Amino acid sequence: MEDKKILFSAIQPSGILTIGNYLGAIKNFKKLQDDYNSIFSLADLHTLTVRQDPAVLRKNTYELAALYLACGIDVEKSILFAQSHVSAHAELAWILNTFCYPGELSRMTQFKDKSRKHEDNINMGLMDYPVLMAADILLYQTELVPIGADQKQHLELARDLAIRFNNIYGDVFKVPEGYIGKSAARVMSLADPTKKMSKSDANLNAFISMDDDKDTIIRKFKRAVTDSDNKIIVSPEKPGISNLLTIYCAFTEKSFEQAEQEFDGKGYGDFKIAVGQAVADVVDPIREEKNKILADKAYLDSVLNMGAEMAERLAYRTLSKVYKKVGLVPRKRV
Ligand code: TYM
Repeated sequence: MEDKKILFSAIQPSGILTIGNYLGAIKNFKKLQDDYNSIFSLADLHTLTVRQDPAVLRKNTYELAALYLACGIDVEKSILFAQSHVSAHAELAWILNTFCYPGELSRMTQFKDKSRKHEDNINMGLMDYPVLMAADILLYQTELVPIGADQKQHLELARDLAIRFNNIYGDVFKVPEGYIGKSAARVMSLADPTKKMSKSDANLNAFISMDDDKDTIIRKFKRAVTDSDNKIIVSPEKPGISNLLTIYCAFTEKSFEQAEQEFDGKGYGDFKIAVGQAVADVVDPIREEKNKILADKAYLDSVLNMGAEMAERLAYRTLSKVYKKVGLVPRKRV
C-alpha cells in the first residue's frame, strides 16, 4: 500500500441501501479513495444483532458488494471485504469489551431506538454493537472514518476506547477522526421528515432504495410529505421541503441558492418531479451496473477473497500487538 493515511468504513448488508446510505456514505467513499489507503467492509456480523433470514442475508451481502463496485469503489485502489471473513474483528471486539462499560453502551441512541423497534429481541449483540464497530476501525490504524451523522456517537466511543487502551499500554491504536459530509449527512424520511431515512422502515414510501426504478422514484417523491405554504426554500420551519432540496442539491451538485432560484415561483408538484428526475438520473445507471456485476458471483467471490486476504494481513498486525500488550502468550508453532 502507498504511504497514505488509512480510511475505513463499513455498511451493513441488512437490506437494499437507500439514497441516505448513498449520499451519507458511499458517495464520499468514492471521492476519498484516491487520497487515502481505503478499506471498505460489509458489516455482516453487525446485521446479526437483528434476526436475519439466512438466505436473504446472503443475497443482501452480494447485493452490497456489487453496489459498492457499481458506485465506483475500485478494488485496484481500495480493499473491499466481508467483516466475517476476517476473524480479527470479533477477536479485538472481545478485548475491547473488557475496556468498555455497560453504561456507555446502554445510553447509545441507536441501541435505544433499536430496542424499541425490536422489543422481542434485545440481545447482548445489539448493545455491544458499537464495540464491534470500534474493533473494525481500530484494527487498521484508521485515521479517517467517513460516516453519516447517525454514526457519530459510535465513532466517539471508538475514539474513547482507543485513548483508554493507549493510556494503559502505550500508543497501540491511532485515534480516528470522523468525516461527516457537509450536506446530506442525515437524509430524512419522505413520510416523516423528522425521522432519519432508513432501509428498515416498514413504510416503503418513506425511503428511496437504490433498487427503485425511475417511475417508482418519481411516484415516491410525489407522495413525499411537504409543508403547508408553497415556498421552495431551506428553513427549519419547512423540514419536508428542506429535505427534498438537500436531496436535489446532493444529486445535482447544485447549491441551495441555485436550487431556490431555479424553483422560485414554481409549485410543489413540479418541484417534486424535478427531484425524482435528478435522483433517477444517478440511481438508474448505478442499478443497471450493479445488476450486471451481481450476475457474476464468481467474480464477486474473487473480489471478496482478495479483499479478505489483504485486510487480514493488516488486521493481524494490530491484533498481535494488542494480545502481546495485554499479556497473552503467543502461540509457538513447533
Ligand atoms: P448503516 O449500514 O446503518 O449505514 C451505512 C452508512 O450510511 C449512513 N446513513 C445515512 N447517511 C445519511 N442519511 C441517512 N438517512 C443515512 N442512513 C444511514 C450511515 O451513517 C453509515 O455511514 N454501524 C454502521 C456500519 C459500520 C461501520 C463500521 C461504519 C460497522 N462498522 C466501522 C463505519 C466504521 C451502520 O450500521 O451503518
